[in-house]
Amino acid sequence: MTKPQYGDYQFDIYFDGLDGVVPRWPVDFATLEQKAASVLPWWVHSYVAGGCGDEGTQRANVSAFARYGITPRMLNGAYERDLSVDLFGMRLAGPVFLAPIGVIGLCSQDFHGDIEAAKASARSGVPMVASTLTQDPMETVAPHAGDTPGMFQLYTPTDRDLAASFVERAERAGYRAIVVTLDTWTTGWRPRDLNTGNFPQLRGHVLANYFSDPVFLKRLAKPPHEDLRAATREWIKIWGNSLQWADLAWLRSLTSLPLVLKGICHPEDVRRAKDHGIDGIYCSNHGGRQANGGLPALDALPSVVEAAGDLPVLFDSGVRSGSDVAKALALGATAVGIGRPYAYALAAGGADALVSQLRSILAELDLLMAIDGFPTLPALRAADVHRVG
Ligand code: FNR
Repeated sequence: MTKPQYGDYQFDIYFDGLDGVVPRWPVDFATLEQKAASVLPWWVHSYVAGGCGDEGTQRANVSAFARYGITPRMLNGAYERDLSVDLFGMRLAGPVFLAPIGVIGLCSQDFHGDIEAAKASARSGVPMVASTLTQDPMETVAPHAGDTPGMFQLYTPTDRDLAASFVERAERAGYRAIVVTLDTWTTGWRPRDLNTGNFPQLRGHVLANYFSDPVFLKRLAKPPHEDLRAATREWIKIWGNSLQWADLAWLRSLTSLPLVLKGICHPEDVRRAKDHGIDGIYCSNHGGRQANGGLPALDALPSVVEAAGDLPVLFDSGVRSGSDVAKALALGATAVGIGRPYAYALAAGGADALVSQLRSILAELDLLMAIDGFPTLPALRAADVHRVG
């Protein structure tokens, strides 16, 4: 009896097909994206789908994957695959995670998408990186992830006491690592949203962690439900801190949890992060939402991995399928983040649709490893991966 493999999902689908049952949710990204566009409120869709400038970097992130190819190996005994991975002391069933998405709370139809995502995390074993920007406070979200560990993403506020409070709350709520996002201390130039004056946070959305925090509430003359505009004005004043290397010692002093820096694309920044005792690197250009005109994040990955040495490297930006995940792993990533596709799955059908999407991504990855002869992730990481053209 062989142990269950992610790729078995395809036979669940084909056997259902014998009874005339087809998957309730699309298994591919393109169909899912269309479905999400038809159900999301326009302003949520604009915020999720949009990026910086003419969105060139955003598109390049996606098309970069087509420029890499993995050379298969045969007679390699890949009948059974092991996709498990150790990350910051967590044993994960697979090498993917849910990237932090600040409006995920608005993506499910009940506007409690953070909770839906956590439920999907519990059911799939895929960990969630919970954003600072949520519809429900982190303490409410965390238990829904069950036994699947989660990480907390910090947008470091300029108010250091508030930053300390967020980190302490995250630690108490059971999150297992702090992911500090470096590329978003202010918002990038996003024409789709600028043309419609669309910035959900200023309408009071996704600020639950702030509105439930005693340090933030002390800054207000009246509670947010009595004067929302004043509360959001206060929020915009403090939310983004343009951190410097010297601030890392202070961040480090806040917690004994592993600290991960998100938004690193240059090997020199990796080396400096290592010198500052950082526990993990997160290579990402924020899906092209922050700065346009940059290279695809995937092109930065090999030199980031090389500079990181033994440090784990998380990666996201442009990942749309299991074969994209495989390419990022073959280029050296330790674990790969699913961004927009996860927002679209939640929009299409909440936790059920997200579980189905994660199963699809993991099935495609697993079958690629099976067919191309990579029984384990170390084998895939040692694969010949070539840039086409
Ligand atoms: C993001 N991202 C993000 N990152 C982060 O560190 N904190 C956050 O709150 C958010 N919020 C957010 C909202 C939306 C709508 C999107 C699409 C993205 C960036 C995210 O973690 C990841 O880097 C990108 O989503 C990767 O790009 P793709 O693969 O989604 O195109």
